[in-house]
Amino acid sequence: MSERGSKWVELKIRVNSEYVEPIVRLFNKYLSGKVYTQVVDFKEDDNDPNHLDVEIIGYIVSDDKISEYLTNIEVGLKLFEKIFDISDLSKKEVFSDTWEKQKFPPISLGNNIVIVPKEEDKVDFQDKKTLVIEPSMAFGTGHHATTKMCIELLDIFIEGEESVLDLGTGTGILSLCSLLLGAKRVFCVDNDIEAINAARKNFEKSGFISEVEFFHGDLSKIPEKNKNFDLVLANLTSNILIENFDHIFSKISENGIIIISGILDIRIDEVIEKFLNGHLKLLKKLKYDNWVSLVFQGL
Ligand SMILES: C[S@@+](CC[C@H](N)C(=O)[O-])C[C@H]1O[C@@H](n2cnc3c(N)ncnc32)[C@H](O)[C@@H]1O
Repeated sequence: MSERGSKWVELKIRVNSEYVEPIVRLFNKYLSGKVYTQVVDFKEDDNDPNHLDVEIIGYIVSDDKISEYLTNIEVGLKLFEKIFDISDLSKKEVFSDTWEKQKFPPISLGNNIVIVPKEEDKVDFQDKKTLVIEPSMAFGTGHHATTKMCIELLDIFIEGEESVLDLGTGTGILSLCSLLLGAKRVFCVDNDIEAINAARKNFEKSGFISEVEFFHGDLSKIPEKNKNFDLVLANLTSNILIENFDHIFSKISENGIIIISGILDIRIDEVIEKFLNGHLKLLKKLKYDNWVSLVFQGL
């Protein structure tokens, strides 16, 4: 490993929001979960005739498998190109220290929380609670619409003393906010070991390490004994949410709350239909750009 950390290749591609999921699925097959989507601001990009309004960004570690994986991704994209428009795939070499050196401004989320990147930035934010989330390769600094909406919803739905299950914890941001808002215990799950390591670091720094338990693995593999959570958080993708509905539903307590996010508005009906089939009622819906977050409660 060089002084700049491990070497990665960043892949970027643009697609219409209707076709995000197949590409995310293809990327996920080879990129072990490091796939993010962001809505492109059309005001800056009016000259895009095909309305490729979502950018998909993925990171692949540069090891002896990389050329095989990149070829497989490129073959998959060629097949998709026959069905719908996609931009060219851009590739850029990056090092893991690029993430650690990222700079982001403090951000105020919901009514009560400010996220800062470093301990020294924890200056006076009046009566708000501050949380340090160190820049890392894991997802979740609070700047993405899907995370922001979850924190707004936590503000509304955390009453105090809850047990919380955080599916796809990333940096641990949602669990840490839950604890700051009064939850009692959190159980954090991620299939990416770097996310678990980043989250652990953030919990240690914030003084909440004794209130958390971590599980590294797929959300469908959480041990049976970990159930009856008062609140379940899942900021994932529509496909992961739909495919894992039974696992997610099986983890809430009677009348428990489920907050889901990461849903592009084009998929909203499918997601609602799946979740309403499962003895839940819809309590709230938030929308920001093309993203939607939903809150359900067990009946
Ligand atoms: C969009 S990020 C959300 C991070 C953070 N919770 C937030 O709201 O900012 C999704 C996270 O879920 C993890 N993930 C994706 N699929 C998963 C699965 N099937 N099981 C467990 N974790 C998963 C990814 O590694 C990633 O860290």
